[in-house]
Amino acid sequence: MNEHPHSLSMSERADGLEEEKMHEMECIITRSTLAHLMDGNVKMDTSVEMRAQYPGKFFLMGDDPRLPPMPEKPTLVDYFCHRFASTAHLLQSATRALKGGQPEKVVLACLLHDIAIVSFIRCDHGYWGAQMIEPYVDEEVAWAVKTHQALRFFPDESVGYGYPDLYKRLFGPEYRPEPYIVEEYNRARAHKWYMTSRLICVNDIYSFDPNAKVNLDDFVDIIGRNFKQPKEGLGLDSSPSAHMWRTILWPTRFL
Ligand SMILES: [Fe+2]
Ligand SMILES: [Fe+2]
Repeated sequence: MNEHPHSLSMSERADGLEEEKMHEMECIITRSTLAHLMDGNVKMDTSVEMRAQYPGKFFLMGDDPRLPPMPEKPTLVDYFCHRFASTAHLLQSATRALKGGQPEKVVLACLLHDIAIVSFIRCDHGYWGAQMIEPYVDEEVAWAVKTHQALRFFPDESVGYGYPDLYKRLFGPEYRPEPYIVEEYNRARAHKWYMTSRLICVNDIYSFDPNAKVNLDDFVDIIGRNFKQPKEGLGLDSSPSAHMWRTILWPTRFL
């Protein structure tokens, strides 16, 4: 590289900009330990250090001013519009299920199958996604979302599903799933709802077309009939997974 030895690296410059923005901001915005772990650092933002760095300011305890504002009582559709980083794949999967004449349960499962990835976390996305939706959907839908993560790695000739070429490209030809995934597959294979989860995989595999025309409006009624929107707002209710939605709503709240 012929970069000047004293010039800042991309990430140093980004850090500098972050800090500059923070000085303009009213309050101190921290990053959770998980965010640091994802950068390869075992460390945390401590209140002592942060207050020394930004004297006279208080920690953020509400909306992050850098993120799109959310309504007072957010719905699942609001999360789709303002918190999900990408919705094309979900909408394509669901559109394919709908056009294939699948029941609404399957369409909803397809629509929600990767919400953990687009809003929250990649690792074990099926498990996280299932827990996020469990209190609000039919048990079968949450189960199918959980197990699609494992089923995706295993073929089922009866529905024309082979091991995904995409996975060969993403993980290399030698990749083998972890034992807990193999065990989840074996349990799912024998389960009465197996085919619901398998249908997520079948619709999943054809849903990576960047030019496909999709529209969330096509699913608003299905969501209305099959997703129990809490009247307090999704995340502001007292369901066992409300805190997950609140974390997506307010990812940088100090506590
Ligand atoms: Fe997935
Ligand atoms: Fe997917």
